[in-house]
Amino acid sequence: QRQKEKWEEEEEEERRKLPPVYAEPKSKDFNFFLIMGTYPVIHIFWVEDDQILASSMSHHSFSAQRGRLNMQSSDNEEDVYGGAWCAETEEKDHWFQVDARREVQFTALITQGRESEKHEDFVSSYFVAFSNDSREWTVLHDGYAEWLFYGNVDKDTPVMTQFAWPIVARYIRILPQSWNGSLCMRLEVMACSLPNSYNSENEVNRPDDLDFKHHNYKEMRQLMKVVNEECPNITRIYNIGKSTKGLKMYAMEISDNPGEHETGEPEFRYSAGVHGNEVLGRELLLLLMQFLCKEYNGDNPRVRRLVDSVRIHLVPSLNPDAYELAYEMGSEMGNWALGHWTEEGYDIFQNFPDLSSILWGAEDRGWVPRVVPNHHIPLPENYLSSNGSVKTRAIISWMERTPFVLGANFQGGEKIVAYPFDMQRPTKTGGLDRRGDQRLHQMNEETWARIQRQNEGAMRETADEAMFRWLAMTYAHSHLTMTENHRGSCHADDVSHGQGIINRASWKPVVGSMNDFSYLHTNCFEISIFLGCDKFPHESELPQEWENNREALLAFIEQVHRGIKGVVRDLEGKPIANATVSVEGIKHDIKAASTGDYWRLLNPGEYKVTARAGGYSPQTRLCMVGYEVSATPCSFTLTKSNWDRINEIITLSKRPIRLISKSPRVTPPNKRRSRLQLMRLKNRREKMMRIKKLKEQMTSTPVTTTTPLAPTTTVMATESTTSSWFDAWFEEDSISTTPSSTGAELKESEPTPDYSFEYKIDDF
Ligand SMILES: *[C@@H]1O[C@H](CO)[C@@H](O)[C@H](O)[C@H]1NC(C)=O
Ligand SMILES: *[C@@H]1O[C@H](CO)[C@@H](O)[C@H](O)[C@H]1NC(C)=O
Ligand SMILES: *[C@@H]1O[C@H](CO)[C@@H](O)[C@H](O)[C@H]1NC(C)=O
Ligand SMILES: *[C@@H]1O[C@H](CO)[C@@H](O)[C@H](O)[C@H]1NC(C)=O
Ligand SMILES: *[C@@H]1O[C@H](CO)[C@@H](O)[C@H](O)[C@H]1NC(C)=O
Repeated sequence: QRQKEKWEEEEEEERRKLPPVYAEPKSKDFNFFLIMGTYPVIHIFWVEDDQILASSMSHHSFSAQRGRLNMQSSDNEEDVYGGAWCAETEEKDHWFQVDARREVQFTALITQGRESEKHEDFVSSYFVAFSNDSREWTVLHDGYAEWLFYGNVDKDTPVMTQFAWPIVARYIRILPQSWNGSLCMRLEVMACSLPNSYNSENEVNRPDDLDFKHHNYKEMRQLMKVVNEECPNITRIYNIGKSTKGLKMYAMEISDNPGEHETGEPEFRYSAGVHGNEVLGRELLLLLMQFLCKEYNGDNPRVRRLVDSVRIHLVPSLNPDAYELAYEMGSEMGNWALGHWTEEGYDIFQNFPDLSSILWGAEDRGWVPRVVPNHHIPLPENYLSSNGSVKTRAIISWMERTPFVLGANFQGGEKIVAYPFDMQRPTKTGGLDRRGDQRLHQMNEETWARIQRQNEGAMRETADEAMFRWLAMTYAHSHLTMTENHRGSCHADDVSHGQGIINRASWKPVVGSMNDFSYLHTNCFEISIFLGCDKFPHESELPQEWENNREALLAFIEQVHRGIKGVVRDLEGKPIANATVSVEGIKHDIKAASTGDYWRLLNPGEYKVTARAGGYSPQTRLCMVGYEVSATPCSFTLTKSNWDRINEIITLSKRPIRLISKSPRVTPPNKRRSRLQLMRLKNRREKMMRIKKLKEQMTSTPVTTTTPLAPTTTVMATESTTSSWFDAWFEEDSISTTPSSTGAELKESEPTPDYSFEYKIDDF
């Protein structure tokens, strides 16, 4: 009851703050439906290529098919993906034709210039003609003369022209009369089916009785409230922060025990609207919460199981200010970019701290995982004091608060699922120059090519590449149309080769992405789902889009149960918070929640899993992951280690200790060493190597011989922390690796590439 009152107060407060809403219709949808009722529309973006025809084209990259509204160019002058239809200006008559394939009522046109960095090409005036057979054409007349329509005044902004009355015909032609720069244009034709053909192919049956419309901020709040009232036992509304304009980022939690983390129950998140103009994800999440609520109440066993076994968080709008901008303009009239950024000009998706560079910089120095962890990399010191987006910070704190296991963010403008890394690892300068390196010079071509390939992969693969591919596949293949590629992708060739998935770094790399951050700073595996070519689909397309996505939405949540899970406890059965869980062969660890429970997403297989916690001896277990979608229980009981006590003593005496089971300290390379010293060093090194080998042979789990490092890290901080000390350490270490692993060895001793790498040892 109190919660409800609070909600109402908030509602009232919000209402006062919102700008007054005018009764004037603002979105094109409104006008359109006023004229046409609710008959389905025809969208040229979705018609087949052979329904579009033009008088000529200036170059093979500017065919009529490139003339769809919001088409983006591929930036490659050589290929066929130009940013508009452009006519051959040598010709005399120009026209662009769309065949609706049957008689329809044409109601409006939306035109746009060419998408281009350099060129300012657009059509400024045109006639419109109609035909029923494509031979006899009637130019639209205003009673006195042929009706001249004014087109665009710049290349980006869409301009809508509504006809004074609907025109019944099968074909429509646009006849450009004047233009700026070259004759180039993109356009959308609005048309309705004739009333008597209402039950035609455009009709979508609506099996789910849900609210299929675009919801602005107020309507979204209202809808969430209704869902909450309908399903009070399994839902909770909270917000994760405020935008610059004071709009809240609302989250709907759906779980059998909303409001609390239950030990053993994984947390899942879907978020949408990082870019305010990519709106489909927002509506899908609003539909999903209605669906889960209705089906739960209707005892749908699949939904019951899902809600009872997962804590689901749905955030429909991470950038509410920008959405309002795009919503005001409506489905077609916003251009490709309006509402993409936040009020302050940030692209939230890429506004996260770049932890990838920190990880890679440390890897190049051989610091991972002993100095810099391979997971839960802390925020850079300067991040919190810098002027990042308020929203990004709110999102980060939300990610940190909740032990999410799996998540996805919805975007638009493409139809593909993208998984991390999102950032491309920079190639090292001078590192693998073949001629420059003696050893490489002796390599044969085949070996060289193999190493190159491995390096290429390593440039963008996470340690969990296989798992990420699986997760991305699950969504793409459960989606009804994501893998259809008969027309390539939205704007260029189908980069996914019919799979519907792509590694983001190999496609359109970005720095500081939400996905990379989530993977490196938290346990959560996050991917981006690009829902379709049209960033702002027409309201009448929402039922079809829901059908396309419904199964995928559910199937992806179910993947949170793939892998192993368990609780890390001490001998008394008390949970150990923040224990580290590592899987042999995967260089990315997971941290248990503060309640000691953990989840590790894994593909089917057999894994050697080790749990570690400060002050405890590590424990290793063999855990099997099967093909059924339910996590294999794999819990740990850790015993207190002697290192705990030793550590206490060391800390008390304040004496630095290092390299407990490692080789001795090496003189920094810049100091000259006598031959004798070098000889001694070499002997010692060989001795250490022999001992190490022996140890490895004796113990079945070599890992444990080096693990006492956990308590040591606290001591490191008391040591004067110059990097040369650590360089020396790793130099020594890399010598002792076996020479057979050429690739890895080279990496460790190479100079650091020239991307920003700021890391202070003190952080640990
Ligand atoms: C096409 O045919 C319909 C009748 O089926 C007619 O009403 C309409 O005017 C025709 N359109 C044109 C452009 O001739
Ligand atoms: C028209 O095109 C020319 C170059 O062709 C460009 O300099 C000019 O700015 C354009 N005009 C407008 C209004 O954009
Ligand atoms: C909520 O839970 C209570 C107690 O278990 C139950 O009586 C009530 O019917 C439930 N309400 C709904 C809408 O499921
Ligand atoms: C943050 O923004 C404020 C005001 O815009 C400015 O005065 C300040 O210098 C900025 N701080 C940083 C670290 O950029
Ligand atoms: C676990 O980690 C969290 C976040 O880093 C921290 O706030 C908490 O104090 C830690 N708990 C323990 C028992 O170390």
